[in-house]
Amino acid sequence: MINMVFLGPPGAGKGTQSAYIIEDYGLVQISTGDILRAAVKAGTELGKEAKVYMDGGQLVPDELIVGMMKERLKQDDCKNGVIFDGFPRTIAQAEALDKMLNEDLKTEVTHIISLDVADELLVERAVGRRSCPECGKVYHIKYNPPKTGGVCDADGATLIHRDDDQEDTIKNRLKVYHETTSLLKGYYNESGKFHEIDGEGDPKDVYKKIKGILG
Ligand code: AP5
Repeated sequence: MINMVFLGPPGAGKGTQSAYIIEDYGLVQISTGDILRAAVKAGTELGKEAKVYMDGGQLVPDELIVGMMKERLKQDDCKNGVIFDGFPRTIAQAEALDKMLNEDLKTEVTHIISLDVADELLVERAVGRRSCPECGKVYHIKYNPPKTGGVCDADGATLIHRDDDQEDTIKNRLKVYHETTSLLKGYYNESGKFHEIDGEGDPKDVYKKIKGILG
């Protein structure tokens, strides 16, 4: 069974690559960013609290994220393997994930894949990103445009530009990544399951490298 942690800065392509992995490996993708955005849209207490941090490009506090993940991991679809996209982002979250997997699900993280992309490219990727509010499909106005301007190829919904994809907010998100989340590379490096790959090429070429690791 595969339980994969996807590391990488904002805009590195974690969501894009997860879509390929789901198709080939049948894993479920758990994106903490997607869960938080759904909570913001639904106007829940969690959403209201998280929005302030997200709009500023800061991390949502660990206790909210860990509580949210504990609930998510109780669902049956996690039993066949998971892509953890955007979680963990701190050492405390990584320790909590190990504990939840070991104690509650009697399993463990099997692969940690980190996508490496230069900051200048990440800003361009995030500024040009558009996503479907209905199905979540991700586009880029230059690198992966929809067939018809501004609407999703799959369901025709009008594409949106995320609130936190403004240039200033992205720069904050990158700063938080370099100062905090990138420390996870050290946390996982000794596990023997950590792989860092170049995420700058064509998405299909990046995916070939991921497949080479997942087997
Ligand atoms: P989250 O939603 O997790 O955002 P992120 O990690 O910043 O990642 P992104 O979704 O921005 O990027 P991605 O790597 O998935 O890239 P994508 O495939 O879309 O988090 C948002 C916020 O929620 C955080 O700031 C924080 O506040 C909060 N949060 C979430 N989890 C948390 C946690 N665990 N703890 C605390 N707070 C948390 O690609 C980007 C663009 O590039 C797309 O347009 C795509 O088409 C294009 N692209 C992708 N690959 C390529 C390629 N190879 N070549 C050219 N273009 C490409």
